[in-house]
Amino acid sequence: MQTTVRIRRARANEASAIARVHVETWRAAYAGLVPDDYLVRMTENGQAFTWRKTLLRKQPDSAVLVAEAPPAGQGAPHTVVGFGSCGPNRGSKLAYNGEVYTLYVAQDWQGHGIGRKLLGGLFRTLYDQGYRDCIIWVLAANPARFFYERMGGQRIAERGQEFAGEVLEEAAYGWPDLEDWLRQTGG
Ligand SMILES: CC(C)(COP(=O)(O)OP(=O)(O)OC[C@H]1O[C@@H](n2cnc3c(N)ncnc32)[C@H](O)[C@@H]1OP(=O)(O)O)[C@@H](O)C(=O)NCCC(=O)NCCS
Repeated sequence: MQTTVRIRRARANEASAIARVHVETWRAAYAGLVPDDYLVRMTENGQAFTWRKTLLRKQPDSAVLVAEAPPAGQGAPHTVVGFGSCGPNRGSKLAYNGEVYTLYVAQDWQGHGIGRKLLGGLFRTLYDQGYRDCIIWVLAANPARFFYERMGGQRIAERGQEFAGEVLEEAAYGWPDLEDWLRQTGG
C-alpha cells in the first residue's frame, strides 16, 4: 500500500479533506487523553475553516503536506489519507529552529509506512527552507511518541499545555541534525 501513496504539498481547495482526517484521527487517538468535551465539540466544518485559512495564508517558511492515495476506481477522486504541517519553532525556548506542528494518518491507513513518508517529506521541506533541526510536541501519554522514538527523535523536554480547561503533559522530541537524518533515510 505505501508504494502507491504520494506525498505532496496540499492544495488550497483541500481544507475539507484534511479536516476529515484531522477530526477522525483526533477522536480515535485522543479519546481518554483529551477531555471528551473538546473532542465532541470538534467538527469537520470548524477544522476545515481553520485549515482553509492556513492554506490560503501561504507563509513562505511554513508548509502543509498531504499523503494522497490513488483513486478507488475509474473517475473517482484521489483521497487524502494523511497530512502534516511544519514551519518555524512556534515559540518554545528550546534551541531548535524548525517544528513539525501536525502529523496524522487516517486510521485505516496506519501501519503502512505513510507516517514515515510524511515525516520524511516534512523534514525535507524544513531542510530545503534552511532549517537544520526540528522539534515535535506530542501528548506525553500518546502512543505516537513511540513512533517518534522509532524515527530517531530524542526526548528533550516536557511542558504542561491547557486543553479545554485541563492541563495535559506534553513531551518534546528533537532531531538535532536533519541533514544526517535525511542522508541516513535516503530522503
Ligand atoms: C503516529 C502516526 C503518524 C504514525 O504513522 P503510521 O503510518 O501509522 O506509521 P508508519 O507505518 O510509517 O510506521 C513507521 C515505523 O514506526 C513504527 N510505529 C508506528 N506507530 C507506532 C507506535 N504507536 N508505537 C510504536 N511503533 C510505532 C512502525 O511499527 C514502523 O516501524 P518499522 O520501522 O519497524 O517499520 C499515525 O499512527 C497516527 O496518525 N496516529 C494517530 C494520530 C497521532 O497521534 N498523531 C501524532 C500527533 S503528535
